[in-house]
Amino acid sequence: MMIEISTDINKAKKILENNELVAIPTETVYGLAGNIYNEKAIKKIFETKNRPFFNPLIVHIYSKDLLHTIAAEIPVKAQKLAKAFWPGSLTLVLKKKNNIPDLITAGKDSVAVRVPNHPMTLALLQSLDFPLAAPSANPFGSISPTTAQHVADYFPNDLSLVLDGGSCKNGIESTIVGFEGEEAILYRLGSISIEEVENVIGKIKIKNNEEKSPNAPGMLSRHYAPKTKTILAENVEKELDLHPNKKIGVLLFQDSSHNPIILSKEILSEKGNLKEAMSNLYAAMHRLDKQNLDVIIAEKFPENNLGKSINDRLERATKN
Ligand code: TXA
Ligand code: MG
Repeated sequence: MMIEISTDINKAKKILENNELVAIPTETVYGLAGNIYNEKAIKKIFETKNRPFFNPLIVHIYSKDLLHTIAAEIPVKAQKLAKAFWPGSLTLVLKKKNNIPDLITAGKDSVAVRVPNHPMTLALLQSLDFPLAAPSANPFGSISPTTAQHVADYFPNDLSLVLDGGSCKNGIESTIVGFEGEEAILYRLGSISIEEVENVIGKIKIKNNEEKSPNAPGMLSRHYAPKTKTILAENVEKELDLHPNKKIGVLLFQDSSHNPIILSKEILSEKGNLKEAMSNLYAAMHRLDKQNLDVIIAEKFPENNLGKSINDRLERATKN
């Protein structure tokens, strides 16, 4: 099977109705999608990604009006978040309805769910009579895909179709919020900043990500990682001095270094805009990772708003 890059939503619908998989665009990253109610399709998702079965999947629906078909309980704060951010890059973890298969939730009694904000995928979801489970469309642990071509490069022969919805606007995964009773807990930093979430529901507790059995394995330390050795640096010039005679690539927020030792440079936002930097992050990592460099030096971002989410991904990419 050879992967096809296409904009044909109807073709995607037919493949999914046949319980096969399709890669779909979202505003965060591309997802590897299958029918949540079909065991064969869901098993195929885990197999294709080489993802451990203990790592549960996110359910994608086209409207918050369908939330009651997935979740058994919807705390007031969850309703507020859905209203504020859907369609959009916020995933809610809620007590699941009994008909949600254990394979989706890894046997937990909670389920992760969101309404993605991409016109093609919303149209696709509306045309189907089942929701789609969709983890990021990359092999487990590698950099998430933000273009159809990234997906095709990862899975040239394991998938028949990637629906081409262009570059993902937000460019990193959704922010995940769960609940202990009525109290909201942040499980994963993402495309929506903590500040934006707190504007809607007030102070939120952040789950310690060093826990042994994390609720969101997106919180597992090494994740989103390039194959090339990558270093996170507060001071890029100093770090550059530590690698003489090496082929060095740099990942910068703005164009802050003109050091001649640099072989390849990626600037995430010329004008220093965090949202723009976030949307360029993974594509820049993919490009640097293809250049047979000895080392990639990534500049640490300011620790505010989306800078925190970007640093989270950079920290994971640089853990060894
Ligand atoms: O932006 C996104 O969320 C993308 C797009 C495709 O929607 N999807 C995505 O899926 O990032 P994935 O599988 O790469 O990450 C899903 C995260 C995992 O860290 C998983 O552990 C967590 O969601 N998760 C899923 N169900 C959960 C549950 N019941 N409790 C806690 N965490 C859960
Ligand atoms: Mg992922």
